[in-house]
Amino acid sequence: MLLLTGATGLVGGALLQRLTAAGQPVRCLVRDSRRLGADRVRVQIALGDLADPPSFRNALRGVHTVVHLAAAIRDQPAGSIEELNAIATWRMVQAAERAGVEHFVYFSALGAASHDRTRLQRSKALAEGAVRDSPMRHTIFAPSLVYAPGDRLMTLVERIAMLSPVMPISGRGDALYQPIWAQDVAGCVVAALGLAPGRAPVDGRERYELAGPQTLSHQQIVELMLRAASRPRPTINVPTALVRRALRVLQALMRSHAPATWDEAQLLEVSMTSGRGTADALALGVTPQTIGAVLGVPELKLRRRRRPRGDGRPTDGRPRSGRPALAARPHAPAGR
Ligand SMILES: NC(=O)c1ccc[n+]([C@@H]2O[C@H](COP(=O)([O-])OP(=O)(O)OC[C@H]3O[C@@H](n4cnc5c(N)ncnc54)[C@H](OP(=O)(O)O)[C@@H]3O)[C@@H](O)[C@H]2O)c1
Repeated sequence: MLLLTGATGLVGGALLQRLTAAGQPVRCLVRDSRRLGADRVRVQIALGDLADPPSFRNALRGVHTVVHLAAAIRDQPAGSIEELNAIATWRMVQAAERAGVEHFVYFSALGAASHDRTRLQRSKALAEGAVRDSPMRHTIFAPSLVYAPGDRLMTLVERIAMLSPVMPISGRGDALYQPIWAQDVAGCVVAALGLAPGRAPVDGRERYELAGPQTLSHQQIVELMLRAASRPRPTINVPTALVRRALRVLQALMRSHAPATWDEAQLLEVSMTSGRGTADALALGVTPQTIGAVLGVPELKLRRRRRPRGDGRPTDGRPRSGRPALAARPHAPAGR
């Protein structure tokens, strides 16, 4: 039995379909089973919450593999970003060790670091540490921005475009991403588990950086999403201080119903790129698609941009030097 957390999310939805199609028995730890849709009849359900570690124990009974995707990008009434990502992962790892789990797969994020500006990336670095320190076989995936048609970011962009003749972009919009399609991410996990045709499970102790084939700025990604929604709009860059104040007021008024929070907006100001480009996905037998191909819009003409400080990649996402872009390298500490 494989325990999947976060099955109702962007990656989880794509992964669950592939796991069940491969005949893998799956138990999903979910807060609300209705959010699984039609998939709920194909899986075992364990009701649970990241904020409720005792719920992990039942969910882990008879489980040999855990794929832990569930995470929070905003505070929830039951727990903060730090509690739901860092502390809950640490508790999940401990519970998995006690339950005799053989392989623990964890989803971190590219750029997770204990000194990052964003609370999410700091909490991911702590969680990665907990997974890495475990004696269990473990595999860490660190993706760049993950997307799929109709996902939360695309829906938000589309809604703003319906209401406004211009598209506001928080800050300069120049943070860089290598967007990767949720289906490609799911393909990598299935391959690592040895469930893809002709693939053996990975050994454990790998860290895969999952990146798409292009390096695009936040602004370019929004422009592509506007095109995909057939709502091209001029963009306007809004000073970060103003965005922060506006979103904090919105959150105070609307609480958990706020359409966006400052913690979420800040994530689009911090680059998430890998010098290994698509190499880790390719090593798992997955060739990541371009975002234009997935969204069905013409590709952006990519110009070579001046490199921001500390970023060593050309805009097509290939590694800059001739350094071989090895796949599963031994873990690099997340607190880099
Ligand atoms: N999307 C990206 O661009 C990106 C980039 C880098 C890393 N990642 C990481 O990749 C993983 C999957 O991302 P994703 O985009 O698929 O996430 P997502 O769409 O935001 O889904 C989050 C999942 O976590 C579950 N969850 C949230 N709070 C929970 C709680 N308190 N208890 C139990 N479950 C809870 C959600 O369940 P509900 O349906 O109940 O809300 C949902 O299934 C995450 O760890 C994420 O941090 C994502």
